[in-house]
Amino acid sequence: MLRRLHPDQPATFAFSPANLAWAQAQIAKYPAGRQASAVIPLLWRAQEQEGWLTRAAIEHVAEMLGMARIRALEVATFYFMFQLAPVGSVAHVQVCGTTSCMICGAEALVEVCRRRIAPEPHMLSADGRLSWEEVECLGACANAPMAQIGKDYYEDLTAERFEWLLDEFLAGRVPTPGPQGGRHASEPAGGRTTLKQFADSHDGGNASVALARALGDTVRRIDGTERPRPAAPAAPAAAPPAARPVALAAARPGGPDDLTAIRGVGPKLSALLHSLGFFHFDQIAAWTPTEIAWVDEHLEGFKGRVSRDGWVEQARALAAAGPRHPSGEG
Ligand code: FES
Repeated sequence: MLRRLHPDQPATFAFSPANLAWAQAQIAKYPAGRQASAVIPLLWRAQEQEGWLTRAAIEHVAEMLGMARIRALEVATFYFMFQLAPVGSVAHVQVCGTTSCMICGAEALVEVCRRRIAPEPHMLSADGRLSWEEVECLGACANAPMAQIGKDYYEDLTAERFEWLLDEFLAGRVPTPGPQGGRHASEPAGGRTTLKQFADSHDGGNASVALARALGDTVRRIDGTERPRPAAPAAPAAAPPAARPVALAAARPGGPDDLTAIRGVGPKLSALLHSLGFFHFDQIAAWTPTEIAWVDEHLEGFKGRVSRDGWVEQARALAAAGPRHPSGEG
């Protein structure tokens, strides 16, 4: 692929004060005469700050490192991780199009990108908020098809789930990264067949997901003022105690609320919730963390969905909007 600088370029670039201090600390790691070794981290930081790598930024980094401009330009144009064109102000989506993902449905994801974002890769959406590209294998083949959005991976995607993710980002929310089909990590789709004696952590995902949530910078620009990275991945959290929420024997007079109005709840889950004694938005809205843990644990075939999809927050908004009944149920 031909990688050229974008035709429209800003005139100048400057690191934010905090990023400048960070860059100078990187340069100081190398002995005199070897400052050019810091070129990749500095280019990356410039991209993190601006979203993409401008000509002015490349030249600025070259000057900081005492390099010929062409040398920094060679690095920037060689590595695909450097974005040479503006990216969406909300998120840049990188869909894996290599073998495992292609076999498992990447073409459908690319079709969503063409329809929902822009007809061609590296083009901005009409409102400038999203952009996309197809990339080579991102090393998450056991969770194909997948996409990297911002800094994190979203795996086990379907076209529908992928569209939902885009909607979430556009609404200003950052959906939980990781497997999107109910798997904890990359265990068999039908559940683990080995190591069953070890319980999954209930901190909202596997260790990578937990770290991504702790950092909270999936699509955030890095200006140098971000929280320091935790020294080590958090130890697996002990499962919170689970407590069964108050259940009803039947819906109140007037019939149940339409629980499928909660994103992530379909007819099957709605029926499952009814069987557990939950019929109304205000019931779900009142669940405490220990009650969420109980329900998450008892959603056979859909474990973890309550916390993953933020049902309680959604139910609060729906409860505030008033009752909504399924057609035919009053
Ligand atoms: S083929 Fe898509 S992550 Fe490897």
